[in-house]
Amino acid sequence: MTETAMRNTVTHEPGPAVVSLEGVSKIYGDTVRVKAVNQLSLRIGAGELVAIMGPSGSGKSTVLNLVAGILPVTSGTVRVGGQNPADLSEEEAAVFRRTRLGFVFQDFNLVDTLTIQENIMLPLMLAANESPARMRRRSRAVAEQLGIGDVLAHRVHEVSGGQAQRAAIGRAIIHGPQLLLADEPTGNLDSAAAQDVMRIFSDLNERRGVSTIVVTHDARTASWCKRVVFIKDGAVHSELYREDDRLAFYDEILNVLKLIGGEGR
Ligand SMILES: Nc1ncnc2c1ncn2[C@@H]1O[C@H](COP(=O)(O)OP(=O)(O)OP(=O)(O)O)[C@@H](O)[C@H]1O
Ligand SMILES: [Mg+2]
Repeated sequence: MTETAMRNTVTHEPGPAVVSLEGVSKIYGDTVRVKAVNQLSLRIGAGELVAIMGPSGSGKSTVLNLVAGILPVTSGTVRVGGQNPADLSEEEAAVFRRTRLGFVFQDFNLVDTLTIQENIMLPLMLAANESPARMRRRSRAVAEQLGIGDVLAHRVHEVSGGQAQRAAIGRAIIHGPQLLLADEPTGNLDSAAAQDVMRIFSDLNERRGVSTIVVTHDARTASWCKRVVFIKDGAVHSELYREDDRLAFYDEILNVLKLIGGEGR
């Protein structure tokens, strides 16, 4: 997507659905069966920044993996950008994930033997048609945007947790995905670094219209989002929408968490 096209997608009203789950269930295992997601329906509009919260084991990561097409559903329908991952061949699904989606994981998932710059460039390296000079330029621009331009030559063990998480975000956004999925992206960070990460997501969302789903246990992290979906026992329990005041929203989120559990880790 060009810069102009990205700017044009910015909207504060939920646009057409970028993700829709209809009556989705996921059962793990054959002999011991665990119903992780139970008849869950959820719609995320284009340009939304949404948090998913809920007690441990409520199915949050499973939902994210179903959206990503990493896991197949047991029943129900998932659509991402109008596509049902189940209709794609394995190869098509891999290309879809690589070009249209970005992932950020709690444990960063960076490659230790590569530098920060090489880690950020990885998605471009997989995309055959990129010149090395362009990849270096793009990765430097993304790193600078994320405030880690000075550690590009460092290896993963030579940067802080917050810098590693920013590198993981850089890798997730370098190819201009339409949908960013993050599972506990602030779980391993102190509160200052966690706020920085959410500021980055918020900025990408507002300035570039990147639709974003953030799974988190942390009410402060969730308070950066405009909507919080609470999941309990594999189904949507309730939702909150933010007005203007982030601190008031934080209090509202804490109140729901008290009700359903899932506060803290
Ligand atoms: N690969 C798997 N095989 C079997 N059961 C699984 C598997 N992955 C998850 N589960 C089970 O499915 C349920 C939902 O798990 P999931 O990881 O989605 O929860 P979560 O909400 O992300 O929890 P947490 O907050 O602890 O990360 C849990 O009961 C979990 O034990
Ligand atoms: Mg999880």
